Amino acid sequence: MNDSPKFPKFGPGQHLISVDQFDKENLREFFTMAQALRPIAERKQICTVLDGAVLCSLFFEPSTRTRLSFESAFLRLGGEVETTTGFTFSSMAKGESIADTSRVVSGYTDVLVVRHPDAGSVAEFAQHSVVPVLNAGDGSGEHPSQALLDVFTMEAEMEKKGRTIDGCTIAVMGDLKYGRTVHSLMKLMSLYDNVTFQLYAPPSLELPHYVSEYATQSGSRVIECSHQIEALSGSDIVYATRVQRERMTEEIAKSKELQGCLLNRAMLEEANALDIIICHPLPRDSRPDSFDLATDVDDLPGLSIFRQTDNGVLVRMAMFLTTMGVSMDIVAAKTKAKPWKVTD
Ligand code: NCD
Repeated sequence: MNDSPKFPKFGPGQHLISVDQFDKENLREFFTMAQALRPIAERKQICTVLDGAVLCSLFFEPSTRTRLSFESAFLRLGGEVETTTGFTFSSMAKGESIADTSRVVSGYTDVLVVRHPDAGSVAEFAQHSVVPVLNAGDGSGEHPSQALLDVFTMEAEMEKKGRTIDGCTIAVMGDLKYGRTVHSLMKLMSLYDNVTFQLYAPPSLELPHYVSEYATQSGSRVIECSHQIEALSGSDIVYATRVQRERMTEEIAKSKELQGCLLNRAMLEEANALDIIICHPLPRDSRPDSFDLATDVDDLPGLSIFRQTDNGVLVRMAMFLTTMGVSMDIVAAKTKAKPWKVTD
């Protein structure tokens, strides 16, 4: 992933492949826009600014929230969505290359959202597309839209405590090797000052060196911990992740180190961290012995996992508007109160 091509700073007409495309300035502008879109994301206002625009979403890996929130975001801005899922029903099953698929599909749409099992594959889509491509996850590479919604949510949660992300300590736990959300998150958080990452990964699932190097070169501290309590101690936030069993051999996936529980209430008690901000990209693997986040933390006030998923819509709306060059003035001119009501 180190040697994937560099894409320009994220802005009008640009693909979004990596969080590298953000600096402090465009991240701040992006979050300001995302926040301003909240009434539309929450269905309090109706917007038609993307009337006539077409999104095509191509998901070659399972997805619930990423695909639906990208599509909801586009629909809430008044656009139309075409979608295809899996390889079986696409011509890739007939041996079509990424280059040909990308050129063909991009000829039908105004923007593409792509998820694919190979790291670097979405960058390849972008190189052959005639419209902007947004990366919805490329294998164990990156997941920029998830990192944007994660950091957006963490900012809001830290603000409730009168704090910012600058100077915070975050425990990052779970499958740090294959978990692409962690790779994007750590790179994006490294734009802030004085961030400390306390990492805990089970054996064989440690963070790739290029990610920790990126973080330390950006001025963050990276501390490797040998158990969960050590990572949690002194942390303001914990970011827990699922074991990406689909990306490893069956032998490793079934090993005893990957059974049991990654994070539960007893561990938070032991680390004196019951008030910690709890984040997770989801899905949470709730099967027994899945080595994931337990549900006995669900009543803790810091549990932010569903605030993250809700924020996925407005963050993805801001992604579309940014790449399609639509300012908030134009959005305001195409937004009205809704004439119907389901809930307040
Ligand atoms: C993540 C992903 O697909 O990388 N899910 C998501 O998009 N929210 C995390 C995961 O699958 O574990």
